[in-house]
Amino acid sequence: MRTIDWVDGAVEIIDQTLLPDKCVTLRIHTVAELIDAIQRLAVRGAPALGVAGALGVVLADGDPDQIAALRAARPTAVNLAWGVDQAAAHLSEGREAVLAAALRVRDDDLAASRAMGERGADLLEGDRLRVMTVCNTGGLAAVERGTALSVVQTLHERGRLAEVLVLETRPLLQGARLTTWELARMGAPHRLIADSAGPYLLAQADVDAVLIGADRIAANGDTANKIGSYALALGAERAGVPFIVVAPESTIDPDTPSGDKIEIEDRGAEEIVSIRGVRIAPEGTQALNPAFDVTPHDLITAIVTEQRVIRP
Ligand code: MRU
Repeated sequence: MRTIDWVDGAVEIIDQTLLPDKCVTLRIHTVAELIDAIQRLAVRGAPALGVAGALGVVLADGDPDQIAALRAARPTAVNLAWGVDQAAAHLSEGREAVLAAALRVRDDDLAASRAMGERGADLLEGDRLRVMTVCNTGGLAAVERGTALSVVQTLHERGRLAEVLVLETRPLLQGARLTTWELARMGAPHRLIADSAGPYLLAQADVDAVLIGADRIAANGDTANKIGSYALALGAERAGVPFIVVAPESTIDPDTPSGDKIEIEDRGAEEIVSIRGVRIAPEGTQALNPAFDVTPHDLITAIVTEQRVIRP
C-alpha cells in the first residue's frame, strides 16, 4: 500500500487524519484540494510532501499561481518546494514530461527509503537494539517504508530489533496514531511513551540509539524536525546515546546556511488548547505551537541518506 501515488489521472493519498481508526484513500483532482490536504496533514512527512509537490504540478496544468501556492503550502519541509521544482523544471516540455518527472520523484523516493533503511541498519552495532523515535517517519511519511522507520523496519526484518520506544508527539499525535499503527502492522515490538518521558528514559533505560527524520537539513548540518527532537538530542548527548538523523538527500538544503535561517511553522493555538476537538485548557488560553524545532549539528552523531553517512 502506497501513502501517495498517481492513479488514473489523480493523486491518491491515504487520509492520515483518520488513522488509526480508519484507513481511507482520498482521490485529489485539483491543486486547491491538494493544498488543503497538505495543510490539514492528510498527507504529511517530508518525503511524502516532496512527492505531493511534484504530482501537484501535474494537476496545476502550468498555472504559475497554483504552482506558487502549492510550493508555499507548508514552509519547513524543504522537500515540498524541492518536489514542485523537480516537476516544474519540465513545464516547457508539456504535460507528459511533467508527469514523467513527478513519477521519477515518486520512484526515487521508493528506492531512497529502502537504501536509507539498509545504510542505517548497517551503521548501528548490536544484535538486539532498543531505539527511540519521535513523530512518524515511516511509510506514511513517504511513499513506502520511510526514513528513520525504514531503518527500524530493516532491523526488524534482520531480526535485530528488540523494541521501539515511540514518543506520542503532541499536539497532533503522529507517534501515537501513526507510528504505532505502522509498527503493529510490521509486527515490530514497541511501547508508546509521553513526549516528556523521552529524555528521562534515555538516561534510565537501555536505549541504543535515537532515530529521527528531518524536514530540512541546513548546509552546516543543523536539522529541523518535529517539535521534541531537540529535547531528545539534549537527552541523548547527556546519556551518551547516538542521535541519528535519517533523511533523503532532497531534505538537505544547501541554500540555508544554518538552522536559525529555517522557517518554523507555527500551527496556531487550537491544536494546543484541545486534543482531537476536545478542549483541555480554559476558554481564551493563549498558546504557542511551533510544529518543529532545530537540533544543532554538534548534537547529531550521524546523518544517514540514501547515498552516504554524514558526521556533522
Ligand atoms: O508535521 P509533520 O507530521 O509533517 O512532521 C513530520 C516530521 O517532522 C517528520 O519527522 C519528518 O517530516 C521526516 S518524515 C520521514
